[in-house]
Amino acid sequence: MQNQPTPGSYWRASVQLPEFAPLAADLTVDVCVIGAGIAGLTSAYLLSKQGLSVVLIEALGIGSGETGQTTAHIAVPDDRYWHIEKTLGARAARQVAESFGAAADLIEATTRDEAIDCDFERVSGYLYSCAKDPAEELCKELEAAERAGVRVSWQDRLPISTVASGPCLKFADQAQFHSLRYLVGLTHACTQRRTSIYCDTRALDIEEREYGVVIKTLHGKISAAAAVVATNVPFNDRVTLHAKQFAYQTYAVAAPVERGSLPHVLIWDDGDPYHYVRLAALDDEHDLLIVGGADHRTGQNDDPEECHRQVHAWLRDRFPMAGPLAYRWSGEVAEPLDGIAYLGRNPGSRNVYVITGDSGNGISHATVGAMLVSDQIMQRPNAWESVYDPSRKPVREALHFMREQANVAAQYGDWVAGGESTPAAIGAGEGAVIRHGLRKLAVFRDEDGALHCHSATCPHLGCVVRWNPLDRTWDCPCHGSRFSTYGSVLHGPAVSGLASIDEEDWLRIVEAQRESKGAATKQPHGKSR
Ligand code: FES
Repeated sequence: MQNQPTPGSYWRASVQLPEFAPLAADLTVDVCVIGAGIAGLTSAYLLSKQGLSVVLIEALGIGSGETGQTTAHIAVPDDRYWHIEKTLGARAARQVAESFGAAADLIEATTRDEAIDCDFERVSGYLYSCAKDPAEELCKELEAAERAGVRVSWQDRLPISTVASGPCLKFADQAQFHSLRYLVGLTHACTQRRTSIYCDTRALDIEEREYGVVIKTLHGKISAAAAVVATNVPFNDRVTLHAKQFAYQTYAVAAPVERGSLPHVLIWDDGDPYHYVRLAALDDEHDLLIVGGADHRTGQNDDPEECHRQVHAWLRDRFPMAGPLAYRWSGEVAEPLDGIAYLGRNPGSRNVYVITGDSGNGISHATVGAMLVSDQIMQRPNAWESVYDPSRKPVREALHFMREQANVAAQYGDWVAGGESTPAAIGAGEGAVIRHGLRKLAVFRDEDGALHCHSATCPHLGCVVRWNPLDRTWDCPCHGSRFSTYGSVLHGPAVSGLASIDEEDWLRIVEAQRESKGAATKQPHGKSR
């Protein structure tokens, strides 16, 4: 086993993803799906099965987004049924339960029908409570889950002797799989039907016409009767949905355990920060124990390394049988105000559909979203339409809304605070935001000592990005856009990268910094890659 954990998810390290060329010419199809994660590929799969012509475009590569960063629990909503019942009503809780069950069934049926080798496995899920009175908290959830029609039972403890959990709830018929191997199978199933796939093709804009949509990309236009935006967070909606969901970063670590030393189950708690646990098959003799947690608002933690340390310490304390850390990664979660995803017709649109607000249950919500928007596009009734309606107003979450909005507003304070670093203070492999007059600059020094400078202004709605030393990315603390060290966009809602700084301009800035601080720097570069 390795001594140092491999940065990046286990899913990415253990699969060969298919590649596709960029779009090369204008196209006309029935449906254009944007995003090649589980939401986009499932939508394309379901629509092409109905005989529609589908084109799927992806800004980067197949599975390059959050489907490869998840821990791939296919489980009941972690926002809990009592909470859904309280905020959206008992009928909504039943609809969520029904749709989550249907999502797991669809994934199971698809793996069987398309012969997808992705270790799909039905397992039990266990929730235990960190509340002051765990029994009271779990009772509340037990009753609400039963009212929603979920198969749930009370247990005195978890089926793992090393975890002192106290009582817990057992949810039958949950599931897990290898998320990216599932995507490989879905991709194959799509291309077998009438779906064409183009990668490195970022959608820049969607224009609604009377009878359809036109999707603009750098490589050509796609005319379609409908568009499905399955990009984790929608790029087409600049404000409405981003004011109702908030970006969080979550951390996962994984270590090998001997096969048979732990049961294959899903576990999660309700702590703050909360944790979640599963196993995945590693090799003939070992499973991989995967633990996640330590969530925080994206771009709002100066020491993400510490988040991994916390999750690893939590793993070590509870699973002494685990070997040395093998993998570690982080992912982004879009948390809707009421905990339920936004799936369906985009607010104010006729023929644009969105799948967003994964809420930490990304696999289930994405699959429900694909089923729902396929029905809407095929003009078939869908019983879950109202509960997931992207236009709904979470009126019972007014306080929560105000708190989150105040958080976003506070991030704009970066325009007057911070940025006191200098180019000379930035070490190799490090980045920092520096101030130059009224401007904020995102400066990264590569391993050869060269500086790369971009505007630190997020092109979405103008917040100042922050350096993430763990992933070596520029992260926006307002709505979660993320950019590479070289400024290109990795995660929306931004659709363009950080603006390059003109080289002459940058030389003047460095000179001014040198004069004022007496610092020496190497030759700068300012081009996005
Ligand atoms: Fe909205 Fe950066 S993601 S301002």
